[in-house]
Amino acid sequence: MTSQNVTSRRRFLTAGATLGAAVVAAPALSNRQRTDESAAGRFTSSQLSLNHRTLGSGKHKLDVSALGLGCMGMNYHRGPAPDRKAMITLIRKAVDMGVTLFDTAEVYGPFVNEELVGEALAPVRKNVVVTTKFGFNIQNGQMAGLNGRPEHIRQVIDESLKRLRTDYVDMLYQHRIDPNVPIEDVAGTVKDLIQAGKVRNFGLSEVSVDTIRRAHAVQPLTAIQSEYSLMWKNPENGVLAACQELGIGFVPYSPLCRGYLTGTLNEQTKFVVGKDNRAGLPRFTPEAMKANRVIVDALTEFGNPRGLTPAQVALTWLLAQKPWIVPIPGTTKLAHLGENLASIDLQFTASELRDLDEAIAKIRIQGDRYTAEEQRRVER
Ligand SMILES: NC(=O)c1ccc[n+]([C@@H]2O[C@H](COP(=O)([O-])OP(=O)(O)OC[C@H]3O[C@@H](n4cnc5c(N)ncnc54)[C@H](OP(=O)(O)O)[C@@H]3O)[C@@H](O)[C@H]2O)c1
Repeated sequence: MTSQNVTSRRRFLTAGATLGAAVVAAPALSNRQRTDESAAGRFTSSQLSLNHRTLGSGKHKLDVSALGLGCMGMNYHRGPAPDRKAMITLIRKAVDMGVTLFDTAEVYGPFVNEELVGEALAPVRKNVVVTTKFGFNIQNGQMAGLNGRPEHIRQVIDESLKRLRTDYVDMLYQHRIDPNVPIEDVAGTVKDLIQAGKVRNFGLSEVSVDTIRRAHAVQPLTAIQSEYSLMWKNPENGVLAACQELGIGFVPYSPLCRGYLTGTLNEQTKFVVGKDNRAGLPRFTPEAMKANRVIVDALTEFGNPRGLTPAQVALTWLLAQKPWIVPIPGTTKLAHLGENLASIDLQFTASELRDLDEAIAKIRIQGDRYTAEEQRRVER
């Protein structure tokens, strides 16, 4: 893969992925696809451009593929890390398939995830969007408390840039708010980094509407990255409305509820303590996973007649919520990547979405998404 042939190859392979989706999802063919089929060419450039979405607005907008790739699980929190070379190949395959948004963070590993992403994307750096995050002290290879102090942010970005083998990141997120540092100071520091050319755009993760407004007034935000899925709809309580009003994009993390919504995990699943944080999450106890099976059943019931997997239903639902939503599912497997990307070209009708929403609304999800300590770090 060279940077010269990436664009044409990507277009070809994106069309291939679209064809796959159309075959898989024939009963759920979108209006968009119906229109395209009646047009002269089936996979026109206008349809390919529809596979992109815009995060943010004005001077701080970012054009990205409608689904990004969350790279965290390639060596952090999702079980024993697969072979590093295989993960570099997977990231490069994602580029070939049309993915342009890649998400990492200093704390993933720590550090090694940025190194992996940096090496994988170096040959195509200018053609892709790389986002990373700061926000923690890291001591002896462990997360050691929050740190949003300006001098720390300035130090972290320089180190992240080295690991990412680049001289700028497309978006720098604060991973978690530091209650000891006013958000205005954080936003002002990122603004300086933007002026210095080290950072192009600013994002926040798991923040309240008040924090969004205060930060945005100092440095316009391009995206909020917070958990959002059929099993965690909290952003609907104000954050999405604020994003809409202010012209800020939204990047749902854990859009498949850390894999649960794919239907491949159950009460027999064993998570490796120390390598997979699901081992300690209340939502992933055997009891909670058994009780929550009903949501996977609902997705399966909805997806089966349409030829869709539960993961595809979950991602298509998210994409349907707002045109400025760009989920970043994580995977370590090429087959899962293809399955997830196929969701970009699916679209449910209003009545299909209503049916799905009604089926999900009847379900009471068991188990908190985070431990009490992790929950304290997220704003409401
Ligand atoms: N801002 C934050 O605080 C924050 C927090 C968490 C995550 N994130 C970001 O969000 C990204 C994704 O989050 P996540 O990894 O927590 O959750 P996720 O994307 O909801 O789920 C990932 C899990 O689902 C599995 N999976 C993915 N597609 C599948 C498919 N089609 N069929 C079966 N299994 C499938 C993956 O396993 P396989 O490898 O086997 O496919 C992986 O274990 C991360 O990589 C990270 O970039 C951000």
